[in-house]
Amino acid sequence: MKVPVMKSAAQTVKGQAGGKLILIGEHAVVYGQPAIAVPFDCLKVTAEILPTDGPLSIDCRFYSGPVQDAPDLLKGIVQCAEETIRKLDGEPFGIMIRLTSDLPLGRGLGSSAAAACAIVRGLYRYFGKVASHDALMALVNISEVFAHGTPSGLDAEAVASEHAIWFRKGEKPLPIPVAAPMTLVVADSGLKGDTFEAVKSVKTRLQSAPEKMHQSFSRLGELAEEARRALIDGAIEPLGRIFNEAQDELANIGVSHERLDHLIKAAREAGALGAKLTGSGKGGCLFALARDVLEAKKIRAALLEAGACDAWLFTIRKDMLR
Ligand code: MEV
Repeated sequence: MKVPVMKSAAQTVKGQAGGKLILIGEHAVVYGQPAIAVPFDCLKVTAEILPTDGPLSIDCRFYSGPVQDAPDLLKGIVQCAEETIRKLDGEPFGIMIRLTSDLPLGRGLGSSAAAACAIVRGLYRYFGKVASHDALMALVNISEVFAHGTPSGLDAEAVASEHAIWFRKGEKPLPIPVAAPMTLVVADSGLKGDTFEAVKSVKTRLQSAPEKMHQSFSRLGELAEEARRALIDGAIEPLGRIFNEAQDELANIGVSHERLDHLIKAAREAGALGAKLTGSGKGGCLFALARDVLEAKKIRAALLEAGACDAWLFTIRKDMLR
């Protein structure tokens, strides 16, 4: 019989993970096309792992108490935490997970994957171990199944990465050597998106209009290839055009939203070289590519003026590739 883990308060540890930003290829990636994502590390989730006397419990902004009574919203991360503890030969007892997050929930910035990644990292540290990349991905994807239904694995890879990745479902992601810093403005439409529902709606549309949908997926795949080249070459203007065209295809497959369209238009009118939604869409966030930081500040102001509820300047750095 396994002995419950009882640790002293001195052994409280933390695990952390940032969000993710899909630059191109969302949805199409579920159907085998390539995608590009970067870690959105200016916003983070922290999982503090503390010893307690009771059963495994969780404390976050939605709920505080034993995991068996946690609401459905937390089912994915609860299952991920339980499986992680099992893998570490522990027992679901004597541990409290306290989650704090700067990432807005359900906005396409990877809050669910980041929370799971922070928990797994924290629990491994609590047990004096470090998760291999494969173990981390397998555990984070337990939670992602609840968020997405059939996750491509892109979000899990992006939140755990330190650089831009080229990703194709079922393959090892490859780093992209970004040639020059690229400044983006990421803006929150204020509308909560639902990845599970968005992925389901694409699947339904695929059944009713397979030819048109496959055409869009293929074009998104080609655009991802072009975007990769533009990032490697530091070709900022072509990259903007590629993002605009990707947005048209995402609208064609039915995952944009009039509020996103309105904000994207405002960003373009304020000088963005390109702008598109990011993540599963139907709400959530968008980003705009700016020529430089000064332009980015103008675009940010225009987005807030047009109704975005928050907006962040974010640079895809050259040193993201270590
Ligand atoms: C969600 O962040 C990204 C999607 O492509 C789903 C997935 O890749 O699993 C919409």
